[in-house]
Amino acid sequence: MKKFLDLISEEMKNAFEAAGYDRELGKVTLSNRPDLCEYQCNGAMAGAKLYKKAPIMIANEVAAKLESSEVFLEVSAVAPGFLNLKVKESFVSDYLKQMTQTEKFGLEMPEKPAKIIVDYGGPNVAKPLHVGHLRSAIIGESIKRIARYAGHDVIGDIHLGDWGLQMGLIITELQERQPELVYFDESYEGEYPKEAPFTISELEEIYPTASGKSKEDAAYKERAMEATFKLQSGVRGYRALWDHIIAVSVADLKKNYENLNVDFDLWKGESDVHDVIPGMVDYMKKEGYAYISDGALVVDVKEDTDTKEIPPCMILKSDGASLYNTTDLATIMERMREYHPDRLIYLTDKRQDLYFEQVFRCARKTKLVEPETELLHIGFGTMNGKDGKPFKTREGGVMRLEMLIKEINEEMYRKITDNREVDEEEARQTAKVVALSAIKYGDLSNQASKDYIFDIDKFTSFEGDTGPYILYTVVRIKSILSKVKEQGGLPDDASIREAGSEAEKALMMEIAKFNAMMESAYAETAPHKVCAYIYDLANAFNRFYHETKIVSEEDQEKKAGWVALLMLTRDILETCIDVLGFSAPERM
Ligand code: ARG
Repeated sequence: MKKFLDLISEEMKNAFEAAGYDRELGKVTLSNRPDLCEYQCNGAMAGAKLYKKAPIMIANEVAAKLESSEVFLEVSAVAPGFLNLKVKESFVSDYLKQMTQTEKFGLEMPEKPAKIIVDYGGPNVAKPLHVGHLRSAIIGESIKRIARYAGHDVIGDIHLGDWGLQMGLIITELQERQPELVYFDESYEGEYPKEAPFTISELEEIYPTASGKSKEDAAYKERAMEATFKLQSGVRGYRALWDHIIAVSVADLKKNYENLNVDFDLWKGESDVHDVIPGMVDYMKKEGYAYISDGALVVDVKEDTDTKEIPPCMILKSDGASLYNTTDLATIMERMREYHPDRLIYLTDKRQDLYFEQVFRCARKTKLVEPETELLHIGFGTMNGKDGKPFKTREGGVMRLEMLIKEINEEMYRKITDNREVDEEEARQTAKVVALSAIKYGDLSNQASKDYIFDIDKFTSFEGDTGPYILYTVVRIKSILSKVKEQGGLPDDASIREAGSEAEKALMMEIAKFNAMMESAYAETAPHKVCAYIYDLANAFNRFYHETKIVSEEDQEKKAGWVALLMLTRDILETCIDVLGFSAPERM
C-alpha cells in the first residue's frame, strides 16, 4: 500500500502540475503548526524564484485546483505563500479500511528479500550474564524482528565467546581442585562420563576465582594459557571437559534468554571456526594481504582518507595463537560460505567501534565478502545508574542480569498489587510480563548509540513514555472490547467510519503512519522509532478514549465503527510491541 503521506503529496503534486508548475514542488510534510493545520506544503515558496512570481499567487492557483479534491478538506493559501492543509475524514477512514484488509497493515514487502545475519547477545561461556549483555540482547532481538516483519530473511546468531583464555582458566582451576578427574589422565582411552563434574553455580564461581588467581600468579596464568592451547589443539580430555562447560553454561544461558523473550536461530560460537582458521590464514598470506610485523601476522587496513590512525588488523599473535579478530574474520568467511548474507549486523558496546572498523576493512580488503555485502556494526551506549555511572548493585558490584530482572519484577509486583485484592499467582505472572516491557522499552526508546539511565521508578511507571504505559493502553482497549462483547457481541462486520471528532481523527491519522514508520525503523535499524510511534499512538488513543463513551453508545453503527477502530489500534500496538520483543497481558 502506498504511504499515507505519499498519497497526499501525490494529490498536491497533481495540483501543481495542473496549475502549470513543476510537480515536484508539491511535496507535503507534517505541519509544524498543528494548531493551524495537519499538513503543509511550502512548494509555492520555492516556486516563486523559479517562476518569478509572488508565492501567494502560485499558492492561490494551486489551491483553486484542489477545490473538489477527494483528499483535502481544507487547502488554505496563507501569506506569504504557504499552503496549510487538512485532510478529509473520508480519506483517512478509507485508508484505514484498506489497512485492515491488507497484509501487515499495508507495509509493502521487498521485491527481493535480503538475507541478513544479526550477530547479537555475544555472552561469554561460563561467565554469568550481567547488565552489559542486556543491551546487545534487547536491541539485537528487536532489530532482528523488525527486519523479519519488513519481509527479510533473517538469522539471529548468538556468537558465544567459547574459545578463549577463559576456557583454559576454568580447566586449570578444575585441575587444581580435582586433579584426580579422568579428564586430566592423558593415558585414559575410555569414554568420558556423561555427567559434568560441576554445576552452573560452581562454574560461575570457578571462573572469577581462576581469573583472579591468574592476575596475581604468573605461573598459574602460564598453566591456563597452556590449557587453552591444549584445548585448542584437540587434547581429548580437555575437549570433553570443554563440552561439559558448554553444555552446562548454554543450558543456563537459554533459560536466561528465554526469560528475556530473546531467541536465537543459531547457537554458534568462536570455537566453531577453529578448524577453518589455518586455511584462512594461508589464503591471506598467499594472496599477499597478510605479512609479518614484529613477529605477528597482520593485515594493513588504513586508508588515505583516514583522519585518525587505524592500526593494522592482527591475524595471529607472535606465538601463533589466534585472536578475537581471527575468529570474527573466520566467522565472516564461514557465514558467506554457508548463508551468503547480503547484510551482516553486529551489536556490541560502542567501545568496540574501532575493532569492527578494522575487522570490516580487513574482510573487504581480503575479499572475504563481496563488494556489495553490507557490514554494519551498531555500537550501543552504556546503561548507567541514576548517578550517571555504569549500573551497579547497591553494594557497588557488577549487577547480574538475573538480579536486575528480579528487582524489577518485585517492583512491578508491588505496583500491581498496591491497594488491590488480586490473585497472587496471576499478579506474579502479570508482573513478569509488565516488568519485561519496562526493561525493554526503557532501553529501546533511546537511540541505541546513546548512554541512558536505567531508572527503575521511571521505567516501571504506568504513566509517561514507558513500557507499562503502552501495555496499560493495550489492556484498556482489550477491556473495552470485552465489555462490548459481554453486552451483546462484537459485530463481525464492524467497519471503520469517518471520524466524528477531532480526537478520533487524530487517532486515525496516527494509525495511518504505521507503514511509513516501520519502513524507516527497518531502513535505519532504529527500534526507537517504533517506541516513539507507539507512544504517540497510545496518547492519541487515550485522548480519544477520555472523550468518548464507547460502551454506552446507543447508536449501534457508530459503536461498531469505534469497535473496528479499537481493534485496529490494538492490533497495531501489539504488532509493534512484538517487534520490540515484549507482549501485553490480558489484564493488569
Ligand atoms: N563475546 C564478546 C564480548 O563479550 C561479544 C561478541 C560480539 N560479536 C562478535 N562477533 N564479535 O565482548
